[in-house]
Amino acid sequence: MSQFLSSKRFPNFINHQNINSLLISTSYIRKVTNLQHIIYKQYATSAFKKPIYITTPIFYVNAIPHIGHLYSAVIADSLKRYYELKGHKVIFSTGTDEHGLKIKQSAEKSKMNPQEFCDQVSSKFKELFDIANISYTTFIRTTEQRHKDAVKYFWKCLMNNGFIYKGRYKGWYSVSDEAFYNTSHVQEIQNPDSKEKLMIATESGQSVEWTIEENYKFRLSEFQDKLKSWLEENPQVIMPINKFNEVKAWIDSGLSDLSISRPHSRLDWGVDVPEDSEQTVYVWLDALINYLTVTGFPWPHDDLNGWPVDIHVIGKDILKFHAVYWPAFLMAANLPLPQKILAHSHWTMEKQKMSKSRGNVVDPIKVMNDYGVDTIRYYLMRDGGIADDGDYSDENIKVRYRKDLAGQLGNLVSRSISPALNPSSIVPSAPKFLGEIAEKDANLYYKLQSLPDLVDKHFQNMEFGKGLSFIFDAIAEANKYFTDNEPWKLKNDKNQKEAVNNILFYSVETVRISGILLQPVMPTKMSELLDRLGIQKDQRTWEYARFGRGWDLNNNHNRKIKFHHDEKSVLFPKFKLTK
Ligand code: MSP
Repeated sequence: MSQFLSSKRFPNFINHQNINSLLISTSYIRKVTNLQHIIYKQYATSAFKKPIYITTPIFYVNAIPHIGHLYSAVIADSLKRYYELKGHKVIFSTGTDEHGLKIKQSAEKSKMNPQEFCDQVSSKFKELFDIANISYTTFIRTTEQRHKDAVKYFWKCLMNNGFIYKGRYKGWYSVSDEAFYNTSHVQEIQNPDSKEKLMIATESGQSVEWTIEENYKFRLSEFQDKLKSWLEENPQVIMPINKFNEVKAWIDSGLSDLSISRPHSRLDWGVDVPEDSEQTVYVWLDALINYLTVTGFPWPHDDLNGWPVDIHVIGKDILKFHAVYWPAFLMAANLPLPQKILAHSHWTMEKQKMSKSRGNVVDPIKVMNDYGVDTIRYYLMRDGGIADDGDYSDENIKVRYRKDLAGQLGNLVSRSISPALNPSSIVPSAPKFLGEIAEKDANLYYKLQSLPDLVDKHFQNMEFGKGLSFIFDAIAEANKYFTDNEPWKLKNDKNQKEAVNNILFYSVETVRISGILLQPVMPTKMSELLDRLGIQKDQRTWEYARFGRGWDLNNNHNRKIKFHHDEKSVLFPKFKLTK
């Protein structure tokens, strides 16, 4: 038994295995130990459907946002919109990580008081997310009182469950990573210019300093087997597979106990440890708890309010914190674990890591201004790295815009609703299927039939680029179909009216289905596209992305639908660059 627990509150004979049962009489412990049971009870009731809960990491406010931050947020937002289109209620949280030495030092550099500094930078993230249409339901800041209360409560759960003891840390600390490193994870390098020698963390390349301090430790070592079983029982819990394997290797290599506080004399910008104001809660424990705070933790009435998280979207650099420490903390507090952790890869610039010191970071607001919000969202989702890093390039954004958005999608929209072939602008009636699909239509028909399921499959597997590529394949197929069938040659022949109608129907149906499926990634442009097609708002959900489900001409509303073709304002016009 740790000295701390035995000396402060508990008789010496208690060890942490039986501490749980002894403490069961305190009301909040009873509540957390019962949670698993409550969840199962709730799920078993058919009327109860837990909302899907999706999170982004909370962003450090030491510097203004860059394109990498927007990437995490766009992935999470696209997933949120995807689940909403499928009929789920979704809780979607994002926010800012405002405590710790790194933030304190940045505030000092800016000659500002830390809270004002945090207010200023946090508002930059909010501004970015508003511009980028990140439809979060909660924006959480770790300096909010509700969060500090949640941190203290969570700490007490860990303490009362016997997983915290007071100890001494002797090792390395990186302020930039806000992480403790032991000697095997650091190395000495020489600055090529100044020839000065310095120690860095091997994994992140950030400088570390030798640190000896008294602090509280978490019994992480006790969770090795439980974490192993968790991975074995949930082989899809960490995606993609290369990140799952990394986590497995970390756990297999052994886990030592983890420092979870810092002396107040070193760090005063944070949450005080309950009942010991000489210590401040370690910023990573503080930050991870944000995901609980968002649900209103500690929950007042056995209602978990969306907990557990369904998808944590994070970048690869913060995988250990989310996939080793966080599940162990939750197990220790007896709380249900996240269902999925998506650890995406990073954006590089000319294959180099983006960093302020290299001066190669991309300003997300500027590029959205240059190319359009939905163009950037599309580019990030289409070409962003999930398993491997993606290289950012303005040239590639332009190519995606020119070829996919303007060249394929924009072109198909224009030609399929243009009055040149359809002067009345009334929706062409669906082809009459007489048992089988005409040979000339078959390719496109079967592509459209299978499209929603293919996109579904790839979105569920977090392969967004692949999912999007199938949509654009179908659009390219429809453009080819249109060109091959040459409706402009048939339009003046009365006997070919039905044939022209058929071509137009297939084309516009491709636009409608693609428009629905692309909404999570390009919400504004696709809303405009579906407006042009006259699709009612309640007919834009995933279930309508099926061939022939769009225009039921027996429905009085639909009979009056007219396309809104606007020659002067095309969906994807040429850009005017600001640079
Ligand atoms: N504050 C922590 C997270 C705490 S979550 C409980 C943090 N913040 S961060 O601002 O440094 O990073 C936030 C996210 O941005 C991370 O998911 C990180 O991987 C992501 N990115 C930072 N640079 C990136 C790229 N160059 N490319 C893609 N994503 C990147 O870590």
